[in-house]
Amino acid sequence: MSGDSAPPPAYTVSERRDGGGDAAAVLPDATRTKRTRRVFHGRIIHSKSLKEIEILPQASLGVDDTGTIAFLDATVTSAGEACAKHKGFTHAEQITLKPLQFLFPGLIDTHMHAPQYPNMALGMEGDLKEWCENWTDPIEASYTDTAKAHRVYREMVRKELDNGSTTVAYNSSIHREATNVLADTCLEFGQRAIIGKLCILVGSTHGNWEASATQSIADEAKVVAHIRRIDPTGKLVMPCIQPRAGSYVPPELMRGLGGIASEGEGHNEGRMRVQAHMCETPLEVSDMHDLHPGFASYADMYDHYGLLGPRTILAHCIHLSRRDMDVLAKTGAGVAHNANSNTCLTDGWCRVRELLDRGIKVGLGTDCSAGYSISILNAMRQASNVSRHLTIATDEAGWKLSFEELVYLATMGGAEACSVDKTVGNFEVGKAFDALVVDVGLDDNINTNGWERDDMALLKKWVFMGDDRSIRKVFVDGRLVAGKDL
Ligand code: GUN
Ligand code: FE
Repeated sequence: MSGDSAPPPAYTVSERRDGGGDAAAVLPDATRTKRTRRVFHGRIIHSKSLKEIEILPQASLGVDDTGTIAFLDATVTSAGEACAKHKGFTHAEQITLKPLQFLFPGLIDTHMHAPQYPNMALGMEGDLKEWCENWTDPIEASYTDTAKAHRVYREMVRKELDNGSTTVAYNSSIHREATNVLADTCLEFGQRAIIGKLCILVGSTHGNWEASATQSIADEAKVVAHIRRIDPTGKLVMPCIQPRAGSYVPPELMRGLGGIASEGEGHNEGRMRVQAHMCETPLEVSDMHDLHPGFASYADMYDHYGLLGPRTILAHCIHLSRRDMDVLAKTGAGVAHNANSNTCLTDGWCRVRELLDRGIKVGLGTDCSAGYSISILNAMRQASNVSRHLTIATDEAGWKLSFEELVYLATMGGAEACSVDKTVGNFEVGKAFDALVVDVGLDDNINTNGWERDDMALLKKWVFMGDDRSIRKVFVDGRLVAGKDL
């Protein structure tokens, strides 16, 4: 396709000016490539609510030169007609989708551990504690080597984008420099990302902890400052603070991190985002209570330190008490449901239906490397299976997630959990154009025979059988950044 934005320029470690440190970054990033006005015409699919997927078999979607969705028009019969009808689009690039293609919102990965990427598929023998000690602590500790961060993060961000994840909430390691590299890499590749430095003081092994609460807080603040310097409006890369979990962060550090969280007020986007783990296993819950005695629930502890709010993402939330759920509902914190990793580590089944019934925001996460797949399509399948296992275990059909709900969780639900739902998640006019061109005819794993005219069947086949081969173009903020046809 002619006229697409050029791919991000080649970029090597030696070209870096700042070595991943705190100096002002001057990066040849994807955000500097020019955007084109575009009109897509063909099958357009997105989520309207937990109950409704809108499938427009023949519609036009216009993207302006700021990367914003200008119109979604189902009354026109061609891209040319849409260009003639909509002001300012006369000379727009026209993209007519093929019969087995559709336009779909970018997928949202609400929980991913960047430094653990090399360990994917390894370490499933143990439970959470054994896995953390034998696999996660050693690999995370190794990111004192900033050159390793460059190597791994470039490969990983590329993989996430090629699998259609246009927004990712990343956990990092305890290292300031490596975390800055992650932020630089996302910006350079044009991925929307929420990033912070992981904070750990106790409870870990292999030297995977920080020297003091003071240093941990100071380094987190420097990472936040770095991210605000490289992306001042927070359009693509958004800072967050990351207490690993209640059992790794003692009161003094939790208090300090709460202090940083409240400082976000007044910055372009308001309050600072927070990412943390919560209620993953019964042992993890009791370890939290040992370190933080006296709280009525895990959620009360985070809330006490000012870490719960509409901009908090909590991974797992499997072993929640009634009280935990009440606090989540009251504070508006979101849940990252990581069905794959929860099964791999035999953590338990997250009761997503109960969360949704209480109005708690839920998105899907890959949680690599506890999960073995970087794909949100896989996360949808695993979330479907976990919900069905709950039905098997209880003989109650109500646990089962519908297909409409799975699509919502992977897109709009993820956007809500990451509090980017005003910007992305579906094709509402005025939102940023984060989207995938999917082709179910080009993925050898998908058999469409006989179902080519059934839009819903094609969508289901993609969700349950597709992989990155079907993701031909990936757009973030109106820019073509990845996909097989890049
Ligand atoms: N709890 C604390 N750290 C981790 C982690 O890295 N992954 C998962 N799944 N759970 C955690
Ligand atoms: Fe995790």
